[in-house]
Amino acid sequence: MQPSLSQRISQLQPSPTVALNTKAKELAEQGHKVINFSVGEPDFTTPMPVVEAAIEALRQGKTKYGAAGGGLPLRKAIAAKLAQENQLIYQPSEIVVGIGAKEILFHLSLALINEGDEVLIPAPYWVSYTEHVIAAGGKPVVIPAPSEHSGPRLTPAMIAPYVTSRTKAIVLTSPNNPAGYTLSTAELRDLGQYLSDKPWWIISDEIYEYMSYEAPHVSLATLSPALRDRFILVNGFSKGYAMTGWRVGYMAGPAKVAEIVRTLQTQSSTCLPGFVEEGALKALSLGPLYMQDKMDLLKSRRDLAVRLLRDMPDVDMIPPTGAFYVFIDIRKVLAKSPLYSNDNSLAFSARLLETSHVAMVPGEAFGTPGFLRLSYAVHEDVLQEGLRRLSLALAAC
Ligand SMILES: Cc1ncc(COP(=O)(O)O)c(C=O)c1O
Repeated sequence: MQPSLSQRISQLQPSPTVALNTKAKELAEQGHKVINFSVGEPDFTTPMPVVEAAIEALRQGKTKYGAAGGGLPLRKAIAAKLAQENQLIYQPSEIVVGIGAKEILFHLSLALINEGDEVLIPAPYWVSYTEHVIAAGGKPVVIPAPSEHSGPRLTPAMIAPYVTSRTKAIVLTSPNNPAGYTLSTAELRDLGQYLSDKPWWIISDEIYEYMSYEAPHVSLATLSPALRDRFILVNGFSKGYAMTGWRVGYMAGPAKVAEIVRTLQTQSSTCLPGFVEEGALKALSLGPLYMQDKMDLLKSRRDLAVRLLRDMPDVDMIPPTGAFYVFIDIRKVLAKSPLYSNDNSLAFSARLLETSHVAMVPGEAFGTPGFLRLSYAVHEDVLQEGLRRLSLALAAC
């Protein structure tokens, strides 16, 4: 007789992006020419000075346990980055470095949520937020995405109907995955004003900071310093420095939050590998300018993707201003099609992969059915060919 599994953890959904990626790889191994628009990582390589710094650190024996929550030199360098680039003053004791922003966000859920606490998550949302909240015993409360493609993406009026006495936290993601929007300074000021008297934790995921194409990224914390005692900034090296596999992310926030997240890390992953820390330190010393040509390349690919998508009948989109995704609205196509029930982008994406060998994550994964997420961090030729196949598949609906 086998004992049962954890009820709470059994509710978790496996990451749909990882599942789609696995299926795409399987088809490629069978010899199909698969186009993978599903991965959330830049196609360029980690800067060579970062790689060399880590190799040198390995040679010098940085292979032992490091400091939980990140070594002091790295936390000092992150504090300097936040001061210089975001005009935010944090002490190293208010910063925790973890195994990717994902671990930081997971530990934040465990650290902040009590059984039944509600966390506001505006849709479309990154796939892991809801699962982290469930794992911690909380209740994700999804704020539906606005149905219009123009106009603000998140306002106090959109949030208010979902607030209850159990609301404990809100998650903000700008630039946004999967929608590619960036909240404007005016939108952030409105949100800051609204949040100023709310007793909630504000988790601001700013991991796509350097992919803000129309205006430089601004943190809500910079605009609304009065939120500081409830504000937790999350960022990382995966996207901006093309370091997804290195697994380095961090948080900056109130010292008591930093301390409990650090304690959790001492009881889970222990620390970041020391040689990885050296790579992260080197990335910070290069600075965002070092990556500027890559960001410009992504912007030109965004323009190409938008141009090609605009030629497709019945396809709408929120023209993206950040990250490297287009969230494509195919609801009109699905509504007209005899093959699909309303808004069933899940079925469309499964068929797109099976028959056209194009992998795109369906909107259902982000709490917003009827959409497909295109990651345009791929070569222009791949983008052109994949969108040609998508256009044919939509026309055949
Ligand atoms: C919005 C968002 N937050 C966090 C993460 C996690 O990043 P990391 O690689 O640092 O764990 C991702 C990765 O896809 C993301 O899209």
